[in-house]
Amino acid sequence: MTTILVLNGPNLGRLGSREPEVYGSATLADIGRELEASAPGITIDLRQTDDEAELIGWLHEAIDSGTPVILNPAAFTHYSYGLRDAAAQVTHAGIPLVEVHLSNPYARETFRHTSVISGIAAGVIAGFGVESYRLAVEWIARRD
Ligand code: DQA
Repeated sequence: MTTILVLNGPNLGRLGSREPEVYGSATLADIGRELEASAPGITIDLRQTDDEAELIGWLHEAIDSGTPVILNPAAFTHYSYGLRDAAAQVTHAGIPLVEVHLSNPYARETFRHTSVISGIAAGVIAGFGVESYRLAVEWIARRD
């Protein structure tokens, strides 16, 4: 395994300026650089979209290429059955998929307490800011 797809859903392209008291001050590009530095020899393919269809397409790509996925579905976490069904295909293909969140959704508004993704993810890492992503990379890298 040389590549990990790090997929990010809506509004995560605004990291850095978006509610820094909740999400921290790192931009998505900062997160990408930190992940690359923490995982020599692994290519971090970091992507972000506000478009549900594009995100689902990237999961299909992961299935076809057998690429492990770190997924921060952002608000889609809480209601996108289409994303869940695509993520389930990743898992059923035997490809690891880790759900990550910068914040701890369970310590926030009630609507964030439901994840339609967690039930098919290999695991969930939430509440540790950029560390959530880094820990997910570490787990995937150790599996191989
Ligand atoms: C988030 C948590 C979600 O509830 C929210 O909609 C996001 C970001 C996180 O990383 O903490 O956009 O996924």
